[in-house]
Amino acid sequence: MYSEAFCKIYNEFGWNYFPRAFGEQLLEWLKQNQVTVRTSLDLACGTGILCEVLYEHGILSSGMDFSQGMIDIARKSNPNIPYDVADMILYRPQKRFDLVTCTGDALNHIIDLADVEKIFRNVYGYLNKGGYFIFDILNEKEVSTGAPIDLDFSDTVKARFEITQNEAGIVNLKTAVFENGVLQFEENITETVHDPEAVCSLLRKCGFRVVKCDKQLLDDAKVQGTTWFVIAVKD
Ligand SMILES: C[S@@+](CC[C@H](N)C(=O)[O-])C[C@H]1O[C@@H](n2cnc3c(N)ncnc32)[C@H](O)[C@@H]1O
Repeated sequence: MYSEAFCKIYNEFGWNYFPRAFGEQLLEWLKQNQVTVRTSLDLACGTGILCEVLYEHGILSSGMDFSQGMIDIARKSNPNIPYDVADMILYRPQKRFDLVTCTGDALNHIIDLADVEKIFRNVYGYLNKGGYFIFDILNEKEVSTGAPIDLDFSDTVKARFEITQNEAGIVNLKTAVFENGVLQFEENITETVHDPEAVCSLLRKCGFRVVKCDKQLLDDAKVQGTTWFVIAVKD
């Protein structure tokens, strides 16, 4: 779970660009493939950006996330969108959806593939027949470990981000915030890199048909993404 302080950093640092870009591509993919979506759920929705993009396009979107701080920001930003605070491994909403999404390498926060399988089984249960499950996962080659990155919040407040990966493939993002050179706050986020083949076979095992597993969401995208995009359908 992200701390409240980290949620604010996440929101203020502009990591929100990803769900917005993803949302625009997703809407284009739905249009190109003549898929009609009336209701959607974004798992691990963070600050709710993707929910807002879909809502702005007339979709009855909703979201959920483990971190109260993320949901507080999402609810404040658009009080019309329903949000739940919950763990997606256990989450089983009463409603069914035409589309379920999970972006921003949120599934890489789930270290154990057995837990990923639980999520897939649950999603299969609350998707409508013909509904789509669309998500991204980290591309190992794009995990940029190396020298720490320093960013300035203001003249006095600075943040340092450092990504490391151990031999077991566990990725650690360490964020530290300093004021006048004195450490104010530190947080470690742990993720893992999942093999896209293993993820796709798990989807099939849970009843899905895998439509796409590619480095780009749109076939005609000019730039290759830095993640794997996976599209699965409940036939
Ligand atoms: C990198 S952020 C991505 C947020 C958002 N999807 C986006 O694209 O900006 C990962 C999110 O996953 C959430 N998360 C991690 N594990 C979770 C779990 N088990 N259940 C629900 N949310 C979880 C975190 O709280 C965080 O908001």
